[in-house]
Amino acid sequence: MTVDYNTLAKTIAALTEGETDPVALMATITCEVHHADNRFNWTGFYRVTEPGVLKIGPYQGGHGCLRIPFEKGVCGAAARTGQVQLVPDVDAFPGHIACASSTRSELVLPVFDRTGALIAVFDIDSDLPDAFTEEDATALGAILKQVFAQ
Ligand code: SME
Repeated sequence: MTVDYNTLAKTIAALTEGETDPVALMATITCEVHHADNRFNWTGFYRVTEPGVLKIGPYQGGHGCLRIPFEKGVCGAAARTGQVQLVPDVDAFPGHIACASSTRSELVLPVFDRTGALIAVFDIDSDLPDAFTEEDATALGAILKQVFAQ
């Protein structure tokens, strides 16, 4: 199954309309994104819970590590820089944190609220090498902006 981002965006908009609770929003996005594409083996949020610290939020897939400092991992890089991390080969990413040995590629997007503050990162892992594209990053970034920054 391959994601149709127009349909996914409309579905998430409909499901989250009027909701403001961050955990409810994150859980809904995680569920819909995870089940939209067979490339996505782990999908979830890491929330900014204190300066320089990410803690796991709603996710789908095998267990994820609970705490990630901004200095570590692909998630930490996204949080530290505020930039999308599109990683075609996790073994080539210095400091990658392997929550599953099967992960081969990863996409992590920063999540900002309407004030522009970083509130989380959105992390997708794939067991396929070089699984993610710029289209994935752009489309998912637009969904996250629609839900959290409007
Ligand atoms: N791979 C991530 C850690 C989170 S697990 O993939 C769910 C990283 O390097 O930050």
